[in-house]
Amino acid sequence: MQIVIQPSADAVAEYGADQFSRLLSKKPDAVLGLATGSTPVALYQKLIARYQAGKLSFAKATSFNLDEYLGLSPEHPQSYHYFMQQQLFALIDIQPEQTHVPAGDAADPIAACHDYEARIAAAGGIDLQLLGIGRNGHIGFNEPSSGLRSRTRVKTLTQATIKDNARFFTEGEYQPHLSITMGIGTILDARKVLLLATGEAKADAVKAMVEGPLSAACPASALQLHQHAVVVLDEAAASKLN
Ligand code: F6R
Repeated sequence: MQIVIQPSADAVAEYGADQFSRLLSKKPDAVLGLATGSTPVALYQKLIARYQAGKLSFAKATSFNLDEYLGLSPEHPQSYHYFMQQQLFALIDIQPEQTHVPAGDAADPIAACHDYEARIAAAGGIDLQLLGIGRNGHIGFNEPSSGLRSRTRVKTLTQATIKDNARFFTEGEYQPHLSITMGIGTILDARKVLLLATGEAKADAVKAMVEGPLSAACPASALQLHQHAVVVLDEAAASKLN
């Protein structure tokens, strides 16, 4: 695991954007693994700016998102489909049919999980998987106790994650407790993994991921097993590392 500490959250986003730019310039038809949440937004803004400046194209790229709430349609404003449209897909030249987000509204969610794995395999596997980290050490929606070799599946969210993500929902609005998420095994199959973490609130999870034992208690610690995992931190997120 390579640890990169940057002076600011903006520098973390810049470093992450450079990784995507470099990959796409070498391999325009790269398969990108994408994430939602607050952390990647600044990186996506940089990618959009580079696309608008004519420096970057996603025209031949394919994408697979990590996760989606189960029970939300793609049009639901809190769905990760919607988030990706708003934050990235509608603002770059990626072909809509080349973007994939797990089907939160699938009639048969288990079949949808198998189908998602099959689509990733058919695309040739993920070249670069972007990750954030939950305060409890989750990656995707692989909550503590997730199997380290798990594949895409339906996963119940912990109370901690439901509470952390409540900020995205208005009071009284239905907030799902279930998700479809790539498994830890699915994530580890990516040829390169890029985890970004910013802010003091992530410092304990970052310490457990980097210095703690390899353990399902901290799903992100599974990245210790990956040959090409890069963890990019601002100083606050790195503040508890030895
Ligand atoms: C999002 C995802 C989650 C987030 C994590 C951190 O697709 O899979 O694991 O990366 O919850 O979220 P933020 O960035 O909002 O702190």
